[in-house]
Amino acid sequence: MAADIRMTTIASSMRLIEKIASLRAPLSEARRRGQSIALVPTMGYLHEGHLHLVDVARRHAAVVVLSVFVNPLQFGPHEDFTRYPRDLEGDAMKAERRGVDLLFAPPVEELYASDRTVAVTPLSLADRWEGAARPGHFTGVLTVVTKLFNIVQPTVAVFGQKDIQQATLIKALARDLDFGVKIVIANTVREPDGLAMSSRNAYLAPEERRRALVLWRTLRAVSEAFDAGEYDGVELEQLGWEILATEPEVQVDYLAIVDPQRLEPVAVAEQGTIVAIAARVGGTRLIDNVILGAL
Ligand code: PAJ
Repeated sequence: MAADIRMTTIASSMRLIEKIASLRAPLSEARRRGQSIALVPTMGYLHEGHLHLVDVARRHAAVVVLSVFVNPLQFGPHEDFTRYPRDLEGDAMKAERRGVDLLFAPPVEELYASDRTVAVTPLSLADRWEGAARPGHFTGVLTVVTKLFNIVQPTVAVFGQKDIQQATLIKALARDLDFGVKIVIANTVREPDGLAMSSRNAYLAPEERRRALVLWRTLRAVSEAFDAGEYDGVELEQLGWEILATEPEVQVDYLAIVDPQRLEPVAVAEQGTIVAIAARVGGTRLIDNVILGAL
């Protein structure tokens, strides 16, 4: 028994790696042993949502690689790149406790040469919703995820439903560019009162934190109306706007009731239809969504 505990302790010791070259040895060792590799890309400041992705990754692979990289390429010039919360030490502790094997946290220069000339740009899906609100954002996301796929060459990669347009585009990336990686989408983890966990929640003042709950109230109400038999897209949207209007301080970017493939508005909602919201609460932009019939 004592030996087992010791083994567990040794097995759980995580390696923090900053260089691409230093990842090669542990990854090829894992492959040599026939172990499958899962990748969980994040921008750090880890919360339970991220750690849930680690749990899901663990169910799919023997070795779990978590990346922490605040990707400058996916932030617009007036967005929060410089003030995005960072806490690598805290992240390393949380990741190790959750059983991550390799924590890959490269500095910006390790991933981006100053004279880089190639990026990965989506042909479609990126011109609406998040893409319309954040020009260039998805090129930044797909470029860094492509790099991470090439560096780690995982069998499986896990992303969160919370960023559903991102997840949809990453599935398209893996398929259209033949990465041969299985993309798994994990459920959104929420605070007890329903607010979707997000590193950006750290920006919210208490009053803003309370107002932000209108996103969840709206998503839940639309979902419940669907469950009660309301399938008309316009009616469901109308209901959503009415609830959003109860918090006039919350500035809504969009309320979208869309199909899961093209993310185009639907006239008639069905099981699997997505209801997505983006809104500004004070200076903080929040997004959230639900899949109808799945709550
Ligand atoms: P980040 O916002 O740190 O999120 C990392 C991953 O965690 C994403 O797949 C996201 O969807 C997931 N996630 C965030 N909040 C979650 C929650 N409450 N429940 C479940 N999963 C959640 O998304 C990014 O970083 C970046 O765009 C990245 C993919 C890392 C590329 O830079």
